[in-house]
Amino acid sequence: MTQPDIAHPNLAGIKRVAVLTSGGDAPGMNAAIRAVVRTGAQQGIEVVGVRRGFSGLHRGELQRLGPRDVANTIQRGGTILLTARSHTWRTPEGRAKGAAVLREWGVDGLIVIGGDGSFHGGHFLQEEHGIPVIGVPGTIDNDLYGTDHTIGYFTAVETALSAVDKLRDTGGSHERIFVIEVMGRHAGHIALDVAVAGGAEEVFIPEDKKPIGDVVAIVKDSVAKGKRGSIIIVAEGYQGGAEAVAEAIQEGTGLETRVSILGHIQRGGTPVSSDRILASRLGEAAVYALMDGKKGVMVGRTAGGITYTPLHETWEKRKDVSRDLYRCAKMLSI
Ligand code: F6P
Repeated sequence: MTQPDIAHPNLAGIKRVAVLTSGGDAPGMNAAIRAVVRTGAQQGIEVVGVRRGFSGLHRGELQRLGPRDVANTIQRGGTILLTARSHTWRTPEGRAKGAAVLREWGVDGLIVIGGDGSFHGGHFLQEEHGIPVIGVPGTIDNDLYGTDHTIGYFTAVETALSAVDKLRDTGGSHERIFVIEVMGRHAGHIALDVAVAGGAEEVFIPEDKKPIGDVVAIVKDSVAKGKRGSIIIVAEGYQGGAEAVAEAIQEGTGLETRVSILGHIQRGGTPVSSDRILASRLGEAAVYALMDGKKGVMVGRTAGGITYTPLHETWEKRKDVSRDLYRCAKMLSI
């Protein structure tokens, strides 16, 4: 193989870009920051890191980042730039302060790594102040339209799955029902993957309007089939969460039931290879997007290629869970 040509035409004449992480952290965010910094360096573009997301932006918490500053970070969970959910940024005054900071620093474009809340923040900054913004999907929830997967999702599924496997051991030994709650405020992507990979008896997700009472018949049926324990997966966003589902089981069957809420453990840890690779590709693509003169879009990866989706569509359009996988979960829980 000959050496690949890594030069990319800088049609927009970009000289300096800023990058920040915002909202809930996700494993692989560091790999995305690293990709932005190193792609910038290779293309002769200066990269400035913003600490604490949009909160740090309007307070002027910026620092130059070079290739060595991101050494030894690809394998680390969390975000070296820190993150926050900013209330001030929701006000036009907060965004005006942030825009002034970016102008002071001579920034030609901003790369926002985060979820839909963060993209709202970027979208309004661009609309009101004309600063080009590129989004990079970083959230464990995988709930953004315009990309097959989001950075952090694969790791979160692995983390949740390893907990489910352990709970299955203890649940089976005690012949108990375990109701396990996984993250996903509005989306059941994590829940569905974990249910199929963890061999769960049932899964409750916010996208499905299945009544909570259905769980009683499902558990009774499992017992009748001779199962010695059951695993029920519930997405956090399903009405009442795991506690409500467990209560329904206890009341309807009298069987010994335990609840385990996995919570923020799913957001931490070493990113798995799929998240590191996705983050590396999307971080690189985000710099190229600015150089190409693109703005107000999220870079995503769909069917193996890089795609660009207007930021507002990432939250206005809905990425549905795989109905086929849902059917498969049902099929195999006999
Ligand atoms: O958006 C990612 C996410 O982990 C959701 O799954 C969860 O509902 C939320 O963030 C929790 O947010 P916080 O860390 O602010 O409690």
